[in-house]
Amino acid sequence: MTKKTIEDITALAKRRGFIYPSSEIYGGFVGIYDYGPYGVELANNIKAAWWKAMVQMEDNIVGLDSSIFTRPEVWVASGHVGGFSDPMVECKECNTRSRADHLIEEAGGFADEKMTPEEINKVFDEYRKKIKCPNCGKQNFAEVKNFNLLTKSNLGNFNDDWSKDPTYLRGETCQGIYINYKNVLDTTRVKVPFGIAQIGKAFRNEIAPRQYIFRKREFEQMEMQMFVTPENEMSIYETWREKRMQYYLDLGFKKENLKWHEHENLVFYAKAAWDIEYNFPFGFKELEGVHARGDYDLTQHMKHSGAKLTYKEEGGEEFTPHIVETSVGVDRTFLAAMTEFYDKDELGGEERTVLRFPYRLAPVKAAVFPLLKNKPELVKKAREVYDMLKGEIRTEFDDSGNIGKRYRRQDEIGTPYCVTIDFDTLEDGMVTVRERDSGEQKRVAIEELSAAVSK
Ligand code: GAP
Repeated sequence: MTKKTIEDITALAKRRGFIYPSSEIYGGFVGIYDYGPYGVELANNIKAAWWKAMVQMEDNIVGLDSSIFTRPEVWVASGHVGGFSDPMVECKECNTRSRADHLIEEAGGFADEKMTPEEINKVFDEYRKKIKCPNCGKQNFAEVKNFNLLTKSNLGNFNDDWSKDPTYLRGETCQGIYINYKNVLDTTRVKVPFGIAQIGKAFRNEIAPRQYIFRKREFEQMEMQMFVTPENEMSIYETWREKRMQYYLDLGFKKENLKWHEHENLVFYAKAAWDIEYNFPFGFKELEGVHARGDYDLTQHMKHSGAKLTYKEEGGEEFTPHIVETSVGVDRTFLAAMTEFYDKDELGGEERTVLRFPYRLAPVKAAVFPLLKNKPELVKKAREVYDMLKGEIRTEFDDSGNIGKRYRRQDEIGTPYCVTIDFDTLEDGMVTVRERDSGEQKRVAIEELSAAVSK
C-alpha cells in the first residue's frame, strides 16, 4: 500500500485544481482555502452523498437551510458567548499564539478545551520544560488564557464601537436547526422522533489552524439533529452510531482506517459523546461527532427567547425533546477521501498517481478523447459522444497531449472511465472504454456507452 503523506496530497490537490490557498496572490490567508474546479465537484458529491443518506433515505428527517447570521442572543443561549473557547498560550519571544492543549499533548501530556484556565495552567507548568514554541523553538511562554472562537461582525450595527455589541457568524450550523424546530414542527407532518438535517458554512476564530483543511477558520458542516423522547434518547443514539460508521464503509472507506473514540470529559448536560476518527496522514483524528445532548439545547432557547419549544401529542405528556446529534465537516470528509483513495501504482510499466474515488465521489465520471487532435473527423465524432454524455454525467473533453498523458491526467483526478474515439469508431460505431483502476480496455457501442459508464 502507498504511504500517504500530507505533502503528497497537498501537492496533488494544488497541481490538479482541487484546493488552492485562499488569497494566494496576496501571500495566502491562514486557515482559509478555496476549492478549485475539481475540488468543488468533489465537495458537492460529498454533500450529495450525505444528503441522500440523511434526508432522502430517512423517512423522518427533513432538510433546512438556515442563515449564517442570527440574532446574537442565539449564541448567548447556546453558551458560545460565555464558553466557546480554546486555551491559548503566547510565546513571549516571537508572539506566536498556540493552542496550549495541543502543545501539552505533543509533549506527552493530556489537556482539552473543557478544562478551566487554572487546570490547564497547572498541566502546562508540569510540561513546561518539554514544550517549545512551534515557530521560534524557544520556551518562554506567558500564562494560558481562554480565547473565544466566535467570529464577530458589524452586520446591522453602524456604530464605531460595534465590537461591544456584535453579531456573530455562526460557530456551528445546529443552532439554526434548534431555533427552527418549532417552525418545522408546525409546518410539516413530522412527529417525534424526527430529525432536521442541514449543510452550511460555519466560522471559528481558530487560534492555530493547521493540518491543511483539517482545521480551518471558515469551513462547512453537515449536521443532523434528531428530536427524541427522553426514554428513547440512548437507543436512538446507538442506532445513529451504527448508521454513521456504516455510512463511511458504504462510501468505500476501509474499516481499519476508522475507529471510535469516546470523549474523556463530557459536558455537564451530555449523556454520551463519541467521535468517529479517521486515519489521516498525521494519525487518527476526529472526523465526525455523534452526541446525545439531553434537553439542554431546547431548554436554553426556551429560557432565553421565552418561546415554548416543548412537544405534546394528543393524549400524551408534554416534554422538552432531547437531541441526538451527528456532526461532520465537509472539509474533513474531503481530506479523508483524498487520503483514503490516493494511491500510486505501476500500469503498463509506468508509474502513476491515481485517486481511486468510488464512482459517486469522482469529480468527473468520464473523459472523452479523440485519438488524434489533428484529424477533424475524429474530433467531430468525439464531440458528438461528449455532447451525448454530458447531459447525463459530469464529462470532460480532452484532446491535448498524447493518449498516455491524457490517461494520467484523468487518473490523477480520479475519473473512472476514459472513452477514446479512433478511426475504427468511424466505421463500426464502437469506442474504447478504459477503466481507471485496472487499466482494462473494452470496445463498447456508442448507443450502449451511457449505460456502460454510468455504473
Ligand atoms: N454541533 C456540534 C459541533 O459543532 P464540533 O465537534 O465542534 O461539534 C463537528 O464540530 C464537526 O465539524 C467536527 O467533527 C469536524 O468534522 C468539523 N469541524 C469542526 N471544527 C472544524 C474546523 N475548524 N475546520 C474544519 N472542520 C471542522
